[in-house]
Amino acid sequence: MTVIPVEAPVRDLTLEVVRLRAETPGCAEVTHFNHAGASLMPRPVLDAVVDHLEREARTGGYEAEDDAAARLDGIYAAIARLLGAAPDEIAIVENATRAWDMAFYAIPFAPGDRILTSVSEYGSNAIAFLQMVERGVSVEVVPNDEHGQLSVAALADMLDERVKVVAVSHMPTNGGLVQPAAEIGRLARDAGALYLLDACQTIGQMPIDVDAIGCDVLSATSRKFLRGPRGVGFLYVRRPLIERLPPPFLDIRAAEWTAPDSFTIHPGARRYENWESFVAGKLGMGVAIDYALDLGLDAIWHRVQRQADVLRRRLGEIPGVSVHDLGAVKGGIVTFVVEGIEAPAVQAALREQAINVSWTSPTSTRWDMDARGLLGLVRASVHYLTTDEEIDRLCGAVARLVG
Ligand SMILES: Cc1ncc(COP(=O)(O)O)c(C=O)c1O
Repeated sequence: MTVIPVEAPVRDLTLEVVRLRAETPGCAEVTHFNHAGASLMPRPVLDAVVDHLEREARTGGYEAEDDAAARLDGIYAAIARLLGAAPDEIAIVENATRAWDMAFYAIPFAPGDRILTSVSEYGSNAIAFLQMVERGVSVEVVPNDEHGQLSVAALADMLDERVKVVAVSHMPTNGGLVQPAAEIGRLARDAGALYLLDACQTIGQMPIDVDAIGCDVLSATSRKFLRGPRGVGFLYVRRPLIERLPPPFLDIRAAEWTAPDSFTIHPGARRYENWESFVAGKLGMGVAIDYALDLGLDAIWHRVQRQADVLRRRLGEIPGVSVHDLGAVKGGIVTFVVEGIEAPAVQAALREQAINVSWTSPTSTRWDMDARGLLGLVRASVHYLTTDEEIDRLCGAVARLVG
């Protein structure tokens, strides 16, 4: 008898939203459309952070950390599971930018090297590229295709042996666009370039597998779609590269002072960490990762995309509102302009009604905003927690603003 494997259907989180919202204290307080800024922590995450702070206060910070050693160690395995990586390829640091920096500034650039990046690259990364221009490195922005995402064909044409780095934000800070990360990875690998993926906005909202994508470096944060606390993030560096990328700065966690005039650098990715850290935040991030893995990233992605599609459609139906997300595949960030009202004023007016959105300015994604002539976008980001009623509430409030 031939047994035909049946693919398990994606878990439908719509059926669990009531429970998941009940487990999220913020849901009773605000209508939150700022998951791309910082999401609302679920109760188990909040408890992990607060419990550890209590322990620090009662037993001493170092002693509390010792007592949590096994749980802290387990976070590396949790991140590795989330990414399809190995625990010794993971470093836990303060935020996504510092994670990315630790890898980027480790790259030994030489005059004539080329960096290829996307139009919608994040400001901090772009500034780091531009800093390298002083060293004779050229920074080249790969044009977009007809969907507004990085053109894979243009990238293929631009790649040569002088390209040292291909660096892309998986999802930009200013829109729902999901870059074709795996196609980019295949091309970068064939060309022998290092591939840095900034997954700050995609981690926790969609499944990510570093081998399927083929990235060498990935950076991410806890506080956005993973729903962890602020002040903590992580870095992945592919095993064979760790030796080749000594950190731009070291301390007594990253390296050991072995003799009066010598030191050795930690052999694993922990070389990118530093000694003092937000221990309660790390523990909270560990719980947030387990929480996301338990729900399933496929299930999360399915619902995030659905809610974002509904929001985009509903906003687009309001006269005087234009929606600006690019890309063939779109995720949980929805960006729009309200005719005649600047983005910060829209944010402030909604905040008065306990509706949280954010706004994004050209300084965060200048190449893209300038090219599209955009001075500011309102950013409403959904998560699996977002209900249709919340979408009604936001759209109603935006419609009243228009007039
Ligand atoms: C695409 C992208 N990359 C990087 C960052 C920076 O992350 P962090 O503030 O954790 O350094 C952000 C923050 O919004 C972002 O949207």
